[in-house]
Amino acid sequence: MLSYKELYNACQQCTKCALANGRTNLVFGEGNIKADIMFVGEGPGHDEDMQGRPFVGRAGQLLTKMIEAINLKREDVYIANIVKCRPPNNRVPYPEEAQACLPYLRNQYAIIRPSIIVCLGATAGRYILSSNLRITRDRGIWTVRNGCHMIATYHPAALLRDTDKKKDAWEDLKKVRDKYNELISDKHKCDTANS
Ligand code: URA
Repeated sequence: MLSYKELYNACQQCTKCALANGRTNLVFGEGNIKADIMFVGEGPGHDEDMQGRPFVGRAGQLLTKMIEAINLKREDVYIANIVKCRPPNNRVPYPEEAQACLPYLRNQYAIIRPSIIVCLGATAGRYILSSNLRITRDRGIWTVRNGCHMIATYHPAALLRDTDKKKDAWEDLKKVRDKYNELISDKHKCDTANS
């Protein structure tokens, strides 16, 4: 396992898949490296590729609002993607591209060790939760693996395309808010018991 800085530097040099050829900037991920919640999207779009930061375009602005709606700030959480380089024309990453990139995300996860992972959209859900995930069917359901609580919800870009989905996304976000409050109060109890 690499340290955060070693991992960051390794990613900047990465040529493990063809997406490396088209990138302006690699989008490593950002946020609090001690975050309790990690949000994972699909891959950088145009704005993210230009700035080297995740979720900074229109979908990103909505993600920021979604985070604030559950009483958190963007800086409190960690935000990453399944692939760190922009797929051409924002197509879904090919399986070989995702597989080449996933060890980096796993290393990030191992460093941050969040209690909650929110998969944004079907691509994140398929690589993190289950390869046959269907987002309309499987969103809003918790899976617990190695003590980490994982859930999928709609990608903010899907909410921009179809505002009818916002109601369900809000139900999912409330589950995330409640789970976060539950886990954080448990953590406090542990801290008090151990002090
Ligand atoms: N969509 C994603 O999945 N990730 C980003 O970083 C931006 C848009």
